[in-house]
Amino acid sequence: MTGPEMGRGKPSADRAVTGDSPLTLRRQSGALIVTIAREERMNALSIATLEAFGDVFRRHLAPDDRAVIVTGSGTRAFCAGADLKERRDMSLDQVRAQLIRYRTDLAWLSTCPVPTVAAINGAALGGGLELALLCDLRVAAPHATFALPETSLGIIPAAGGTQYLPRVVGAAKARELILLGTRLSAEEALRIGLVHRVSAPDHAVLEDALDWIKPITAGAPLAQRAALRALRAADRLDIDAGLQFEMACYETCLTSEDRLEALEAFAQKRRPVYKGQ
Ligand code: COA
Repeated sequence: MTGPEMGRGKPSADRAVTGDSPLTLRRQSGALIVTIAREERMNALSIATLEAFGDVFRRHLAPDDRAVIVTGSGTRAFCAGADLKERRDMSLDQVRAQLIRYRTDLAWLSTCPVPTVAAINGAALGGGLELALLCDLRVAAPHATFALPETSLGIIPAAGGTQYLPRVVGAAKARELILLGTRLSAEEALRIGLVHRVSAPDHAVLEDALDWIKPITAGAPLAQRAALRALRAADRLDIDAGLQFEMACYETCLTSEDRLEALEAFAQKRRPVYKGQ
């Protein structure tokens, strides 16, 4: 799912996706903030939670949202992965259907037309870490922890963990983290490049993430989108095709009013005012 399907609906601030949704949505400083509201289950991913994530993209993401931030409620967990209590009563086919939901209802975070950011407010385990890996950027609270413990539970990561983790931290580290189920602190995660930033202890991770991404939310919208498309293409194209794709992405900026505005503002020694046109 990509851009054209976006923007069918626009929720007012501070409203849930549905009456008793496992997610809440609000907007702040140009970002759509999606919060998993299942603190009593460590923000684990139930069927309803994944479906609600799909609804965020299908019904709530608006054309003027400049970024999407995903976070969890409370301070203990960002997301503890699959809802293991719900999973216990599922048939094999229900588990298979749930795995497909990761691809249909959650994977849009990795192809979303605007940057996606995980504000990791606590433990990011299993599918919770995979959720963070689907995002373009990751900011962690200092007490956050990280692990893919699936092999210790008789399964493997299946929300993209075996594919995304090597791309983010390299093949060797990914083997260690998945085969040993090693648990990392926020500082260790920062050191290996799993997160981009660890918030200061006195700064709430969500506020810190909002501050940090100001160059995105206040930047040139078309350029942001073009850069994101080109960066993501680097994961799937060889270098020749990638360089060609980069040119095509540049072309979408070349004819924009915002490019001319940037040149004009530079000449006039003022800040550019971008319109996304
Ligand atoms: N699914 C459903 N419920 C979960 C859950 C999950 N993935 N993770 C935690 N919970 C529930 C616990 O069962 C507990 O509920 P209870 O109070 O009704 O017993 C509640 O959340 C709090 O968890 P608890 O283990 O008591 O808190 P903790 O601070 O000691 O530990 C975690 C928190 C997240 C480290 C720990 O709960 C944990 O390891 N969870 C499993 C994570 C996991 O393996 N995920 C991968 C799935 S593939």
